[in-house]
Amino acid sequence: MKKTDMYHVALGERSYDIRLQSGSLKNIGEAMRDLFPDAEHCMVISNTLVAPLYLDVVKESLEASLWQVFEHILPDGEHFKTLDTWSGIMDGLMDARLSRNEPIVALGGGVVGDMAGFAAACYRRGIPFVQVPTTLLAQVDSSVGGKTAVSHPHGKNMIGAFYQPKLVWIDPDVLQTLASNQLRAGLAEAIKYGAIWDASFFNQIERDAQKILALDDTSINQIILASCRYKAEIVMQDETEQGVRALLNLGHTFGHAIEAMTHYTAYLHGEGVAIGMCMAARLSEQLAYAPKGTEANMIKALQALELPVNPPEFTAIEWLDAMGHDKKNVGSHIRYVLLKKIGEAFIAEHVKNQDIERLIASYA
Ligand SMILES: NC(=O)c1ccc[n+]([C@@H]2O[C@H](COP(=O)([O-])OP(=O)(O)OC[C@H]3O[C@@H](n4cnc5c(N)ncnc54)[C@H](O)[C@@H]3O)[C@@H](O)[C@H]2O)c1
Repeated sequence: MKKTDMYHVALGERSYDIRLQSGSLKNIGEAMRDLFPDAEHCMVISNTLVAPLYLDVVKESLEASLWQVFEHILPDGEHFKTLDTWSGIMDGLMDARLSRNEPIVALGGGVVGDMAGFAAACYRRGIPFVQVPTTLLAQVDSSVGGKTAVSHPHGKNMIGAFYQPKLVWIDPDVLQTLASNQLRAGLAEAIKYGAIWDASFFNQIERDAQKILALDDTSINQIILASCRYKAEIVMQDETEQGVRALLNLGHTFGHAIEAMTHYTAYLHGEGVAIGMCMAARLSEQLAYAPKGTEANMIKALQALELPVNPPEFTAIEWLDAMGHDKKNVGSHIRYVLLKKIGEAFIAEHVKNQDIERLIASYA
């Protein structure tokens, strides 16, 4: 029997476990039965790409533990992360008549997890949900912490709720079928924890890049577990992003702008974050917060992970406009997460538009 790694996210009555074990997808039914002894039904929400790969194994496991399983299959893609798709989930839940103690199982990447979580938060004013993340990004980041959302034409993830899952069930074996660009995008979020808090974790990912990209069991499990720990610890300190949780947005203000300006078609979320972290590192140097060489170190590590590091060409006005719609801004003020060094990030409240103009000009 393979070893299970476990991390407990302590949030009072909203507490839950993150469990990581290779090959554990086929055991989800038992774990859910222990967690919800009295529930009869559940609904698995997945998408058209993930369901043919993993829905059967999940369903068989659930049925073996006496669950009656409904399923709702979403179209695949970030551009379906909309109120319309979410409304379809609501219709499915209404038709299935799931009761208040009966859970949703989110089987998929961050898009499925965020939408299924938001559906769980709203249906009957909240039913339980379990995250079964199947992308690296979802395993190291989005499945933990309870941010759920859909996007709006005016901005990404603009409509949502903080709503914690009851369990995060991670089987790293499912990464075998993940496209390599998706794997790399997930690594951008993992190395981000190192850039924010822990230079040794940052260096470890850079050093082990080839093993990680080849999905070496030990390396990938270490990365996922360590990432979940960082994420969980920050969520325990600041569940609803009133303070320190905002550090997790390193690279995201620029990254979301990149995604929006290229209409969510040219860059994966993690790729936008990778470029955004390089821009944040350069800005940190330009404003003399970080020593020379910080940007170069960031670029070197991200290139080892075969991630993009150069921003697409847009004018400073376009950048500022796109970032003005980022929901992390307080009022009209744009907040940036910058670096004092690799391993230490902070929130900069007083970056001026001219600083951004200078940053963008420096790429010309
Ligand atoms: N809630 C949070 O805290 C949080 C944090 C970071 C990102 N996010 C959100 O997560 C989303 C991005 O998540 P993502 O990168 O997982 O994207 P995604 O969910 O779109 O998945 C990427 C692609 O991989 C496919 N896929 C998933 N698992 C697979 C597998 N095992 N094998 C083969 N293909 C598989 C998906 O169908 C999709 O085509 C964004 O919407 C972002 O806003 C949320």
